[in-house]
Amino acid sequence: MKNIAILCSGGDVSGMNPALKRFVEYALEKNLTPYFVYDGYEGLIDNNIKEASYSDVSGIITRGGTKIGSARSSRFMQKKFRQCAKKNLDALDISLLIVLGGDGSFRGLDIFYKEHKIKFCGIPSTIDNDINGTDYCLGVDTALNIIKTSVDAIRDTASSFKRAFIIETMGRECGYLALITYITSGSELCLIPEKKYDLNTYEEDFKQQIKNGRRYFIVIASEGIQQESQEIADWFEEKIGIESRVSILGHIQRGGNPTVKDRVMAYKFVTQAIDALLEGVEEAIICYDRFGFNLKGIEEVVNNPHKLDRELIKLLK
Ligand code: F6P
Repeated sequence: MKNIAILCSGGDVSGMNPALKRFVEYALEKNLTPYFVYDGYEGLIDNNIKEASYSDVSGIITRGGTKIGSARSSRFMQKKFRQCAKKNLDALDISLLIVLGGDGSFRGLDIFYKEHKIKFCGIPSTIDNDINGTDYCLGVDTALNIIKTSVDAIRDTASSFKRAFIIETMGRECGYLALITYITSGSELCLIPEKKYDLNTYEEDFKQQIKNGRRYFIVIASEGIQQESQEIADWFEEKIGIESRVSILGHIQRGGNPTVKDRVMAYKFVTQAIDALLEGVEEAIICYDRFGFNLKGIEEVVNNPHKLDRELIKLLK
């Protein structure tokens, strides 16, 4: 029996727990011995690696976050700690590794592979949906649904008052969450890092809308834009003459009960990863686009910048 390990790295996402469940069940079905690495690359370095069984994953499919913990490991960026990680894997005779993580985690993995040739598959997992080569990252659907519920709730209070609400979404340098939210929430304005803007170009239009009877504005502002959300609220107060509030959704977007889509995607991503490793694939990121799943080399994924879908950007006013 071969030994296979899984770890979660970087920002957690809803969908990691369903992925862990599938990992244990499918590994055992394929006569592999499953191991959990706790707390991301930190656990690899500190030898926090334990054999996993059915009982470890019972009842976790409904929970956000990750049962085995995650971390952003700065130590893993140092060669001596990566050597230590490899030593720990060798001691347990673990030759196959699955990493759920985002762009930063894959960069670390790329270096680790080049140095130690550990066979791996990466599963794109970040609510930012900002990994080059894949249209979908695990956790995005749950995050979008949490944001949808939050924006719908804010609309209730916004429509009761004459106010502008600036709702800030996560995404680091990527406006995907904000853009999809804008399209699906019927908000008035969306600001994303990928598109420069000048608020003053909206001034006349917004004033006219108020004259025509508009009572409130909903603005979706992505993290990483050229201004703080409070500055946008100040602009609405000073230039448009409407009372304004800022609502930063923050880490609420990363948690919550995984949606059906993320449970299914977790199941499929892990199945693809284990199958690929059993077929002898040495290194790959499991990517997903409109044609389905495909495997890409990690260099191709991490060495090219992610670009937000141009068709989506065109939908911005
Ligand atoms: O990458 C996921 C993400 O939630 C980003 O959207 C955000 O910028 C960042 O992580 C927040 O990181 P932390 O949880 O370390 O504060």
